[in-house]
Amino acid sequence: MNKPVTSLLTIEEVFENMWQDYLALNPDALKIYQLFSQKDTVVNDHVAFRTFGLPGMRVEDIAQPLIEAGYQEVESYNFEKKKLRAKHYAHSSMPLVFISELKVEEFSAELQWLVKALAMQFNQLNVKEQNFLYSGRPWQVSGEVYERLLEESEYAAWVAAFGFRPNHFTVCINDLTQFTDIQSVNQFVKSHGFTLNTSGGEIKGTPESYLEQSSTMANMIEVEFSDCKKVIPSCFYEFALRHPLANGELFKGFIASSADKIFESTDTKAA
Ligand code: NI
Repeated sequence: MNKPVTSLLTIEEVFENMWQDYLALNPDALKIYQLFSQKDTVVNDHVAFRTFGLPGMRVEDIAQPLIEAGYQEVESYNFEKKKLRAKHYAHSSMPLVFISELKVEEFSAELQWLVKALAMQFNQLNVKEQNFLYSGRPWQVSGEVYERLLEESEYAAWVAAFGFRPNHFTVCINDLTQFTDIQSVNQFVKSHGFTLNTSGGEIKGTPESYLEQSSTMANMIEVEFSDCKKVIPSCFYEFALRHPLANGELFKGFIASSADKIFESTDTKAA
């Protein structure tokens, strides 16, 4: 493995640390991973991150450590109703990375004020650190502010509570030898007692759109706020089956309309 001289960790080590951070918040993912691992080597299709669209912490800012590790920007996405924009990044030997951001300026003056108050506690230099993408919440936030954000945007509340860390990892169904379709993957996951996100149907996308995805509902975990503790939705696990394009190559992008419903995997009200 090539170690860049200027940094301490390889990109593989950074991903391993992100995975461990994610499992601490989403213990269900480890159980599901172990179930698949009994017969297969589980390959990760993509990892997703969320952020606020504010100076110093936009998609492009937090993608910097990935770009330095050899990732390239591939495509942009817009989610009008949820007021999000996103980009996906690809690397020759690593999972895809999907980063979205809240279009803060499209929300109420109060939400903007609350989110900007959090951002003021954020040191922009930290995005350059190798551990940034699993550094968690860089600000103090009260349960009251969390609840207020939740009224307007579940996504804003999630970023406020959890900060910078993987929102989900994704099992690549194409690399599982024991399953050839997403229906049987869903059945397998449900038969072991896990709940899937049914917003927009259990399966998002179709073979004709080249990507089918499903996901668990986020684990509920206790989070410490500055004034209280709350049990709230954390991270979820996703399953993706990619289909071949006309040229025979597997589709390697994302479908905005599917991702739109996947975002609701952390929304207890939408489920
Ligand atoms: Ni995803």
